[in-house]
Amino acid sequence: MPRSLPAFAALALAVPAAIVFTISQSIFPGKVQAAQDPAASPQFYTQKVRPIFDANCASCHEGKNHRGGLNIDTRAGLLKGGHDGAVIVPGDPANSLLVKLIRHEGPKDDPMPMPPKKPKISDADIAVISQWIAAGAVMPDTPAQP
Ligand code: HEC
Repeated sequence: MPRSLPAFAALALAVPAAIVFTISQSIFPGKVQAAQDPAASPQFYTQKVRPIFDANCASCHEGKNHRGGLNIDTRAGLLKGGHDGAVIVPGDPANSLLVKLIRHEGPKDDPMPMPPKKPKISDADIAVISQWIAAGAVMPDTPAQP
């Protein structure tokens, strides 16, 4: 019996560790994978995504501007969304209202393209925003200054 004690102790440690890992994976799915994706970093947002928003959306959706009820300065703002609710679905750009509107593929009942009355933003910019949402829409906690 005493000889099996180390084995028992190892098991006693390993089992809870495995349970904690399994639970954390179910609460934060893809977290491990996301950490390897360069688009899943606050820097990707700050350096690539935010300049596109600043150039095309700031006058209506940044700082004090909340057109359509939407302010895009923070992740919370994007998840709260505007009058129609959340405008991004982290991990799912195809189902994100924001992506549909900048692609001019908005819902039939409220299809106003974004930005309104301006040419569509470039395919490259749309790709960057889609890539960022696909990787989980990671943003710094503090909003950038518009
Ligand atoms: C000239 C002002 C203006 C600019 C610039 C602008 N928007 Fe908007 N946006 C609006 C208005 C007004 C609404 C509300 C439209 C409606 O209710 O149909 C809106 C609505 C939205 C919505 C839907 C909110 C909801 O819940 O219905 C999204 C998403 C959005 N804008 C994203 C963007 C993005 C991204 C950009 C930049 C690429 C942008 N907008 C640029 C004025 C603007």
